[in-house]
Amino acid sequence: MAKTDPNPHAIIFPYPYQGHIAPMINLTIKLASIGFSVTYVNTEFIHHTISKSQSADFNGPFDEARKFGTDIRYRTISDGFSLEFDRDLNFDEYWESMFTEFPARVDEFVRDTIESDTSGAPFFLIADTVYSWPATIAKKNNLVNVALWTEPATLFSINYHLDLLKQNGHLPYNGDGDTRISYIPGVQSISTKDMMSYIQDPEAIPMLFKIMVKAFDQVKNADFILYNTVQELESEALSALNEKHPTYAIGPINFFNECKILNIAKSLWAESDIIRWLESKPPGSVMYISFGSIAQITKQEIEEITHGLLISQVSFVYILRPNDLESNETNIFPFGFENDIIDRGFIVPWCNQNMVLSNPAIGGFVTHCGWNSIIESMWFGVPMICYPFFVDQPTNRKLVVENWKIGINLCDGDQIKRHEVAHKIIILMNGEYSIKLRQEINKLRKVLHNALDIDGSSQRNFDQFVEDLKVRLY
Ligand code: UDX
Repeated sequence: MAKTDPNPHAIIFPYPYQGHIAPMINLTIKLASIGFSVTYVNTEFIHHTISKSQSADFNGPFDEARKFGTDIRYRTISDGFSLEFDRDLNFDEYWESMFTEFPARVDEFVRDTIESDTSGAPFFLIADTVYSWPATIAKKNNLVNVALWTEPATLFSINYHLDLLKQNGHLPYNGDGDTRISYIPGVQSISTKDMMSYIQDPEAIPMLFKIMVKAFDQVKNADFILYNTVQELESEALSALNEKHPTYAIGPINFFNECKILNIAKSLWAESDIIRWLESKPPGSVMYISFGSIAQITKQEIEEITHGLLISQVSFVYILRPNDLESNETNIFPFGFENDIIDRGFIVPWCNQNMVLSNPAIGGFVTHCGWNSIIESMWFGVPMICYPFFVDQPTNRKLVVENWKIGINLCDGDQIKRHEVAHKIIILMNGEYSIKLRQEINKLRKVLHNALDIDGSSQRNFDQFVEDLKVRLY
């Protein structure tokens, strides 16, 4: 690259779900902060959903970042459905069309963007790994293709080796609870019951399995893979993956220095303000409960958890999204719960999770084990109580509880029971084991913070990625 060459221009496609949007926004800002031009493309539906959650007019998530002179162009593209179309209810129809119709729209968008540019900048494509088309479209348009993986590298390796699982008779899972698998490169011995839900039972939601198979067919042809994880946390998985593809652990992406100071609008739901209430609570006294953006909970689970909270006497903030509940039941809380919570807690539909987790009043996190939530909990040193639902969450739980020992299970059997919930909450907040968990998570907290330091592993990997990318582009 000569001094006079224009900077690279990334065209970026986030996956249209909450847990994938924040890391991609933050990666965009990081690239723009080093002088790259970026075109960031939301689906119109996601744009509309985020704007509804904002009190002011929404021009995309980059207004604040642009104040620093960054070149970020925010665009939207149709996913082929009306805004009213229920993408969760019609999951199969939606994703079938995302395989067959959406790629042509992306292709046209990419071509138009490149053709209308007069700067001479070399373009490249960054897309979420879970899409079914990035390598094909990059090849068609002669672009370098960068994939972003928003889950642990360990899970990437498992997905990458589905053929090995098949050969060994472990895909689908054959039902015998405790078969240990120790042949996946870079993955510590893992029980079949801790595998991702779509591997344990591909037929449960066949579309989920199809999405992952298509995604990993594509990513095998990616030029570079970025991971929202940290070298020191998953060194074995990352080294094994690096033998196959240029692999860069650059996490935790949501805490890049450039992004920490910005107030970025990225939530699909409006954020309730509970910070003043938290500030009135003693340090370490409040339990935070959230099951992320896609999991659905049954009435019975809510009942057991809320009764468990009542029995434990611990203060809490409980996030219950409007679409959290599996059925449209009303009266979901046990008698007395709503009166009791006036002093002791809050139930709100959504919050700014990082602001909550960073508050000293928070002493624990009951989580579904989404990867963003785990990383955020580690970043703020908050130990976890794990209650995974599906997709990657059962496997992430295994990492938290068994590999890193920074959390405990909410229930040890198949059924969630209120007295066990209360017991787990009490031991996490105050018990002897709580001290051990806090020591372990504080070690990892340091690892994560160090990784983003100027000479930390993630910053070095990011710099190396930029250097390697430029060699390919110029
Ligand atoms: C799912 C997967 O389980 C996850 O591993 C994958 O990377 C993305 O899709 P999701 O249910 O969205 O995840 O959970 P998680 O990865 O934890 O992401 C949720 C995000 O929403 C977090 O960044 C969290 O900070 C944010 N959040 C959650 C809020 O901002 N407010 C809330 O009230 C709850």
